[in-house]
Amino acid sequence: MAPRLGYPLRMSSTIFEPCQFGRLTLRNRIVMAPMTRRMAQPDGIVTEESLRYYARRAAGEVGLIISEGTALDDLHACDTLTVPRIQTAEQWAAWRQVVDAVHAEGSAFAPQLWHTGRLALDPIGPSAGPGPKRADGSSRPDTREMAEADFAQVLDAFRNAARGAVAISADALEIHGAHGYLLDSFVSTVTNRRTDRYGGSFENRMRFPLEVVRAVRVEVGPGFPIIYRFSQWKMDDYAEQKFKTPDDLRLFVTALRDAGVDILHVSTRDATDLEFESSGLPPRTLAGWSRHFSGLPTIAVGKVTVTLGMDESYGDRASEIVDPAPWLALIESGEADLLAIGRALIANPDWVPLVRAGRWRELQPYHKGLLAQLW
Ligand SMILES: Cc1cc2nc3c(=O)[nH]c(=O)nc-3n(C[C@H](O)[C@H](O)[C@H](O)COP(=O)(O)O)c2cc1C
Repeated sequence: MAPRLGYPLRMSSTIFEPCQFGRLTLRNRIVMAPMTRRMAQPDGIVTEESLRYYARRAAGEVGLIISEGTALDDLHACDTLTVPRIQTAEQWAAWRQVVDAVHAEGSAFAPQLWHTGRLALDPIGPSAGPGPKRADGSSRPDTREMAEADFAQVLDAFRNAARGAVAISADALEIHGAHGYLLDSFVSTVTNRRTDRYGGSFENRMRFPLEVVRAVRVEVGPGFPIIYRFSQWKMDDYAEQKFKTPDDLRLFVTALRDAGVDILHVSTRDATDLEFESSGLPPRTLAGWSRHFSGLPTIAVGKVTVTLGMDESYGDRASEIVDPAPWLALIESGEADLLAIGRALIANPDWVPLVRAGRWRELQPYHKGLLAQLW
């Protein structure tokens, strides 16, 4: 593949070296992307099998492991009850064992705090409307517009989950603000049609996500690393462009930074894709723009050593393996500080040692069959 940014395609000298972001010390710049596996017990407790799954990636020298989306409550936050939760002392105790196992292998761990919003079992969102269709075409229940009591309940659930992240000795936490789930649905003018202080202007649409960030910051205290994940796209609209101009993005990322976010996790289809190409400004990826505007470290993600789009993850076609050099070069070129790997890490717990040794051709291809079990 041609180098789209015009940066040299040599192996990054720093990507496999230890690095530090505030209190977060990592053995290298490779991150495991959050990936829902729906294999917890129905009471939301993460299993022994999941512990081994995460520990295997830590033994494979991943710098930071971000958990699958872990639901804030059993009321509105999850889309199935086999999504693990981070709500009760029993659920925290099981997560603590996962964190201990990951630490024992020398990696860091961050739970991803997830509220599925319009895609939940009992869906809530900024505005009422028909639920988005499931992948199999079936309908979800209608979304109920959030009332004052719902705002208070969700904030409390985020506060509680943040306390959980500290209690399990996580090294950081990630707020899931991407993909059309609750927080993202406030930012989008398509899903947020409110006329009160939570809708309308950009400032109003950002109000609730920022209230969540501030509430989480109060719970975890200064210095505990907060990662915020966001995206242009959403699950039910892969083509959505929430940030139409560089200025839209600038307002968004600086507001997150000022509310207490430490690291931005920029979820893109392909981390090397350029954004705002028609702006006449120098070429940058979405992670690069976010870093440029906010001054915060960014995590880039998307299609590293896989050829399938995220929307093709459950299709019949298997991925091919591609040279990771253009993606690794994102670190060297200053577009991103960390690189998250999703599906390639499902297929290859030993992704880091193989790629570091230049043996990427030996990687196993991702295919949907790998999702049937936790390995
Ligand atoms: C099976 C699967 C589950 C996913 N679950 C989540 C999730 O829980 N939270 C999230 O933010 N992203 C989730 N994603 C998106 C990934 O984190 C990642 O952004 C995406 O797979 C692109 O990275 P890749 O091309 O390296 O796989 C999921 C992706 C897959 C394939």
